[in-house]
Amino acid sequence: MEVLGPAIELSAKHMQRVVIDTDPGTDDALALLMALNSPDLRIEGITTVGGNATLAETTNNALRLVDHVAAGCDVPIAVGAERPARGSFSHAYHVHGADGLGVDLPAARLAPHPADAVEFLRDRALAAPGRIAVIALGPLTNVAAALDGQPEVAQAISEIVVMGGAVEVPGNVTPHAEFNIYEDPWSANAVFGSGVPVTLIGLDVTHRTAMHRDGGPRWFEGTSRSAQLGNRILANSFRERADVQEFYLHDPLAVAAAIEPELLTLRRAQVAVVTDGGERGRTVASYGDGPVKVALGVDVGRAVEIVRKLISN
Ligand code: RIB
Ligand code: CA
Repeated sequence: MEVLGPAIELSAKHMQRVVIDTDPGTDDALALLMALNSPDLRIEGITTVGGNATLAETTNNALRLVDHVAAGCDVPIAVGAERPARGSFSHAYHVHGADGLGVDLPAARLAPHPADAVEFLRDRALAAPGRIAVIALGPLTNVAAALDGQPEVAQAISEIVVMGGAVEVPGNVTPHAEFNIYEDPWSANAVFGSGVPVTLIGLDVTHRTAMHRDGGPRWFEGTSRSAQLGNRILANSFRERADVQEFYLHDPLAVAAAIEPELLTLRRAQVAVVTDGGERGRTVASYGDGPVKVALGVDVGRAVEIVRKLISN
């Protein structure tokens, strides 16, 4: 894959302490399983946002998943935005299932954190300036709100790894726009313009990173709750979508890249988001200098290996 212009390499620095902002969502769920199992990440907390499903559903899915596979891990889950900066979320039940997850899980015994997502993000960032990264797997509503009018928060967050955008490839909601950005283009513009370093992991690389229908029992090995839940999610997703041959690892790739940045070939840019009209949600990169590192290449084999290793066991 030809990289457009001088590619840049991320430092080999691994991000250790993260807040994961998420709208689970089946691929979010796999990403959470990876992060919960990874020895390289310390999850400071999970913040939920509407998007793939309603906020109540994404929050319940996060609570149930963490309780099911990591009870006692003491990862706070803070509730975020029920709607985008303007309008409402359109949801993606046709992709993720009726409740956003599509598989049964026991009712959660966990309760959400008393602080809301914005307070939580700000508090954690300010408590450890320069040491907390955000992995954003849904619409950027919570992240933009946490940064809004808070230059010291922007200064404190070390990096935002965003699953979102479609820069040199078509979108998955419209020909121009990827779902997370389309759902809240105003917040995406605010985050990309905040000056906080962003790694943008869009469809340019996630549409090349997938588990295949014919993978069957070899998706995730082992008998742990993580492996079993991962296999149930994939099996149900392929069962419910007979025409789909690949399960795109959108959010799992963001977590894999947070663990092993060398997976990606990146190009620095300013990124602006179209907020209105037929090209709403389009991510436009002006390459050269800028706070956003756009992922244009990926080591697919290594990425899938990381996903499988972290969920299997
Ligand atoms: O376009 C894919 C992204 O939108 C993923 O994060 C998926 O979970 C949905 O949020
Ligand atoms: Ca997501």
